[in-house]
Amino acid sequence: IVKRISIIDAKDYVDQEVEIGVWLTDKRSSGKIAFLQLRDGTAFFQGVVLKNQIGEEKFTEIKHLRQETSMVITGTIHEDARSHFGYEIEVSSLEVIGDSNDYPITPKEHGVDFLLDHRHLWLRSKKPHAMMVIRNEIIRATYEFFNQEGFIKIDAPILTGSAPEGTTELFKTEYFDKEAYLSQSGQLYEEAGAMAFGKVFSFGPTFRAEKSKTRRHLIEFWMIEPEMAFMHQEESLEVQERYVAYLVQSVLDHCEYELSLLGRDPEVLKKYTKLPYPRISYDKAIEMLQESGQFPDVKWGDDFGSPEETFLAEQFEQPVFVLNYPKAIKPFYMKPHPTREDVYICADLLAPEGYGEIIGGSERETDYDKLLAKIEEAGLSREAYDWYLDLRKYGSVPHSGFGLGLERAITWITGEDHIREAIPFPRLLNRLNP
Ligand code: 4AD
Ligand code: MG
Repeated sequence: IVKRISIIDAKDYVDQEVEIGVWLTDKRSSGKIAFLQLRDGTAFFQGVVLKNQIGEEKFTEIKHLRQETSMVITGTIHEDARSHFGYEIEVSSLEVIGDSNDYPITPKEHGVDFLLDHRHLWLRSKKPHAMMVIRNEIIRATYEFFNQEGFIKIDAPILTGSAPEGTTELFKTEYFDKEAYLSQSGQLYEEAGAMAFGKVFSFGPTFRAEKSKTRRHLIEFWMIEPEMAFMHQEESLEVQERYVAYLVQSVLDHCEYELSLLGRDPEVLKKYTKLPYPRISYDKAIEMLQESGQFPDVKWGDDFGSPEETFLAEQFEQPVFVLNYPKAIKPFYMKPHPTREDVYICADLLAPEGYGEIIGGSERETDYDKLLAKIEEAGLSREAYDWYLDLRKYGSVPHSGFGLGLERAITWITGEDHIREAIPFPRLLNRLNP
């Protein structure tokens, strides 16, 4: 009996006969030989069919196979020095499983809207495939990193009664006879987790009803949110830079082919594995923007837009931490600076090459009365936050945490232009389908 394998394992079966379930992505043929471009989800490679081996009738059938026909093939694996993959299969038999007719995504160029309308099929193509393999690697490396560092994964709920990042970007939904919100961030729950387990992280979908249509914003995105008890901000920054460098190194180590397919130069990425990352204050960042002459209107207190973040990041070789933002532009839960009235102990990590903020984090307010005052000042309902306030009532400790936007990190590491490429089914301002 012939062994059923995956294309990715072809290297282990050279000169052996195997069976593989595949789809046809492209083909060309002459009178005596046909070259089939095949994929099975694990990889892409070539099948070679010889007329005098497979017979006239079957050869004619194969010549007429259409794109995305599914089939089971049997054949012998050979080395193929001409292809990047390095192996091909000489097909000895082929059984069609499912026909395909007028597959909409042809090898020619398609517009972005057309591709997004067909995202459920577009995922089969080489570039989305490479993106999703890298996404998977970053998720895998995330679990590995936090497990090695002694963190426990504590899942935060998706349906919530609280709004950590402000009430303007909330998705509301019915919750029987009440109202609920889709989570903007798991942070508040991770804070409870940190008090129970010390070092925790969450990884889940988060939702922002942001009316912004930019290359960096998704309506639904995935966030990794670590939270650490008995930890001040400076130590948290060290965890953050170790984590980001670990992600970059893991992609370099395991996704060489995918990076080359996407045209991403590994030498550029290697610079981002060097630690530590530079740190500048928000004050210094404002000064740099003002001194550049490119931002005549910028003044202390402003939040940064994409051009400002891009300029700041360009001044450094690595990702850069911007520390201690003004209170007015950051959320209520952050801990105020010990000697300054006007800023929090917080930091954003800005990625190089114009990718903007990939991490936001801070030390958290630990004092019950101060936190309550901030909640009331923010116009939030006291009942919804009673449980959160409890964390300051029973053994409150210094603690810090941060959130890394998964798709922002993927877009940066892969060097893609748009964040929609970094998630299987992007939710954008005007897109809920497929
Ligand atoms: O800066 P943000 O809003 O921070 C928080 O939500 C904190 N509660 C995190 C924490 O301390 N536990 O979001 C964190 C990160 C950003 O740095 C960015 O990378 C990403 O989430 N992000 C988005 N990614 C894609 N689309 C959007 N609309 C995003 N909004 C934020
Ligand atoms: Mg932020």
